[in-house]
Amino acid sequence: MSWRELKPEWGIVLGSGLGGFVDQLEVLATVPYAEIDGLPQSKVPGHAGRFVFGRIAGTTVVVAAGRVHLYEGWTAKEITAHVRWMDERGIRRLVLTNAAGTLNREFEPGTWMMLSDHLNLTHTTPLLGGANFIDLTEVYSRDLRERFAAVALAEDIALHEGVYAALLGPQYETPAEVRMLRTLGADAVGMSTVLEAIQARALRLEVAAFSCLTNWAAGVTGAPLSHAEVMETGKSAASQLVRLLTCAIERER
Ligand code: HPA
Repeated sequence: MSWRELKPEWGIVLGSGLGGFVDQLEVLATVPYAEIDGLPQSKVPGHAGRFVFGRIAGTTVVVAAGRVHLYEGWTAKEITAHVRWMDERGIRRLVLTNAAGTLNREFEPGTWMMLSDHLNLTHTTPLLGGANFIDLTEVYSRDLRERFAAVALAEDIALHEGVYAALLGPQYETPAEVRMLRTLGADAVGMSTVLEAIQARALRLEVAAFSCLTNWAAGVTGAPLSHAEVMETGKSAASQLVRLLTCAIERER
């Protein structure tokens, strides 16, 4: 089936190590980013880019498997091109996922955190260049958050809720920076998601976002951080995400 005939209702963006999500989908069509004009492609291992159209609980979804990051040198506008592309396909809701470090001692690595809000510490935005004074009082839909929280409870999935801080990267933080982030009210830290959420709200999409907490942030335990650890934890947590999304989409029908 050609993806051009498909009308997805949900868009889903997969973070580092969460590519296994698409193995659990009923796949309808796949489009490599390379075949689409204006979509930048990542060179980072674990971020190979393609859109996968599929079905979850009878609902058509489009999954962006692989995203590009500011730290590769792209602009905020470039790294949000996949959000605009999915919006053009007609999605109404967008689920963003990422791998993040946890700085809240009650949020253990290996569990998920749903974003209640964010701190955009990247010093840029995809809305740069115009008088785009959009309201961000509720970036992450209260309605979707309530639905996901209910599903997590029913399915016995540990799902925290908290504030995600996005930094430019690509280096991980110093312990002093992690202490600063805690003072600012962050529960988790990463290098993605917030600019996509801002772009999506500017397009009036309903947004939910989830951090796979892959490691303690720098200095919390004193152990050094590694990309391999981040990818490994993501793999084992992907099946919980599938369950969460499947049940949330089912509840809507
Ligand atoms: N810091 C920033 N980004 C991350 C981390 C972290 O500890 N873990 C996964 N992505």
